[in-house]
Amino acid sequence: MSLNKHFKSHFTVRGGYKGGNASIAAYEGKVYKLSSNENPNGASPLAVKAISDALVDLNRYPDQTDIRLREALELYYEKTVDKDQFICGNSGSEIINLVIKGFISMGDEVIISSPYFVPYKSFSLWAGAAVKDIPLKGANFELDIDGIVSACTERTRIVYLTSPNNPTGRHIPQEDLNSLLDKLPSDIVVLYDEVYWHFVEADDYCRGFELLKSYPNIIAINSFSKAYGLAALRIGYGYMSKEVAAYLRQVRRPFLLPKLNIDAAIAALSDSSFIKMTVDVVLSGKRLLKNEFDKLNLSYLETQANFFFVYPPMDADKFVEELEKRGILIRPLNNFGASGFVRITIGNEEANKALILALQEILS
Ligand SMILES: Cc1ncc(COP(=O)(O)O)c(C=O)c1O
Repeated sequence: MSLNKHFKSHFTVRGGYKGGNASIAAYEGKVYKLSSNENPNGASPLAVKAISDALVDLNRYPDQTDIRLREALELYYEKTVDKDQFICGNSGSEIINLVIKGFISMGDEVIISSPYFVPYKSFSLWAGAAVKDIPLKGANFELDIDGIVSACTERTRIVYLTSPNNPTGRHIPQEDLNSLLDKLPSDIVVLYDEVYWHFVEADDYCRGFELLKSYPNIIAINSFSKAYGLAALRIGYGYMSKEVAAYLRQVRRPFLLPKLNIDAAIAALSDSSFIKMTVDVVLSGKRLLKNEFDKLNLSYLETQANFFFVYPPMDADKFVEELEKRGILIRPLNNFGASGFVRITIGNEEANKALILALQEILS
């Protein structure tokens, strides 16, 4: 007799999320990690100090709830979002999982649009959902609004929208959002993932709190892993209607967030100069890389995020390998539903220059 007869098939049959490489074994020089959309400037110094100050309390249990961080978020959002509308958790991914736990039962359906952030699919499958893919369409990878609307059934529980999208880097223009949200049944959760919002330059970008005013079925997802540089800590938050937040709070377990994470996140929110510096570095890196990609005739999409969606003029795995041989880690996108493409994170000046040199060698 073995326990495997009790293993749940929806957990065992499908693969999970594959993170970026942490090292390249054969390469001996300096490695530049441009594979995980991390902050190239480290973490907010105020957050680092908060973590070190919190170490004296390592023997104590943390706050039972996330209220201190929710209050800080309410101030940060200048009270356009109430503290009771937030839910905080150990990463944006965890909030996505919480929403899935709260709304998906076996056999329910969700809608993704490939290429997509992989956990939407894997977490939904683990919850027993059927995943429908309505791919982004055309050369600019735009949302297929009518396709999504006609794919909805009585069993549809979540539509995943990502703006800017990972891995394409494109945002969803406000007009498209309104058109889709007006047509979708209002009892479907629209998970609006905006973790890259700090880097957006487009005028017609819309934040989740603006959408929430007209569409109470929006659940917005945010992370401290990107602009705030706290990916190693695992901390993120979502906001939504008070009613949905009160419900999801029941799904969330107590003592969930380590004190170090709460203190670091509160400090990071107040560190506007670090965020400004980060955004400046990313936007100037974006201009530099765009210019170089154009010179090299390398195809890419215009991006609103801290990474580029690139179509290399050779087999994507070979391109990744050639860059790895030169100390540059980037992300192949086969398991994001975009085979043939790669994603390259915008680095700091040194990393961008190393990338450019490597590209010149590979493509010339
Ligand atoms: C679109 C998108 N959503 C959510 C996340 C989750 O971020 P984290 O779990 O690190 O907070 C990521 C991370 O890469 C992402 O790209």
